[in-house]
Amino acid sequence: MNTRLEIEWNVEEIPGVVEDLSRTAAECVKAEGIGKKVYAHLTITDHEEIRQINREYRGIDRATDVLSFPSTDCTPEKTLGHCEKKLLREMDETGYCFLGDIIISLPRAQEQAEEYGHSLKREMAYLTAHAMFHLMGYDHMEEEDKRRMRAMEEKALGLAGAARVTDEELIEMAMDAMQFSYSPYSHFKVGAALLCKDGKVYTGCNIENGSYGATNCAERTALFKAVSEGETEFTAIAVTAEKSLPWPCGICRQALNEFAPDLRVIVACGDERDEAPLTALLPHGFGPRQGTLDFLGKE
Ligand code: THU
Repeated sequence: MNTRLEIEWNVEEIPGVVEDLSRTAAECVKAEGIGKKVYAHLTITDHEEIRQINREYRGIDRATDVLSFPSTDCTPEKTLGHCEKKLLREMDETGYCFLGDIIISLPRAQEQAEEYGHSLKREMAYLTAHAMFHLMGYDHMEEEDKRRMRAMEEKALGLAGAARVTDEELIEMAMDAMQFSYSPYSHFKVGAALLCKDGKVYTGCNIENGSYGATNCAERTALFKAVSEGETEFTAIAVTAEKSLPWPCGICRQALNEFAPDLRVIVACGDERDEAPLTALLPHGFGPRQGTLDFLGKE
């Protein structure tokens, strides 16, 4: 591991975030083309502490979402990738060079995640990437600098599996997964790409069986792959087929409803596209979101 992110929690720790943020930080450093071993310190805190730090170090008596304090004096014209030597002064006894400090306000990240309609993990990953590029000299005061910084953030977040995915990208991923369809009986190839709230995508294809009833649809392959990796929140699914628009079958509608009744279902076949919310495909659904949890397992 060439990049280390030291995380200090001054608020209650959120499980599963540390790995995501470390991966994001590592992809930022890689995207900048830094060859040296580096580390940054990230403090995750509340409104009050970030306000104090903002007041003390920047003279701004206001809470904010993220602050970054670079150890080197790189500029948007000459970012750290172009003056790596500056890091030598920052090398510690383990051979790692200090990039600087990052402070993130957890409550502000929570508010922003809600506002933008994505997960807290995705928002934290975005704020971390933004701060990491500040530590490497990037800025967003000038339009051109801002464009370059945004492009780097998107690249790193994409590689870390936390980027915003467009519908066309999701369809493309479903089309790619369709190539692995195992459908020697129906000759009906289906692919699916399921978008998680944190930005990750799980793909699947239909997998048939000589005992026909053992067949698994593409949507459920993707769903079960995702849930088996700990994902339970989804925003959209793209389903593709070669021969007709593949609206999900009843079993898949039910399986998806368990986790995401508000899912957007996008179907594609060649250049044809259509879309409907799962609520329209499965009205009056039966699942935990419709209240079954209040009754299931109870006498
Ligand atoms: N299939 C899917 O993968 N998804 C659907 O929602 C509809 C049907 C597959 C199952 C089977 O392998 C083939 O299409 C023909 O039914």
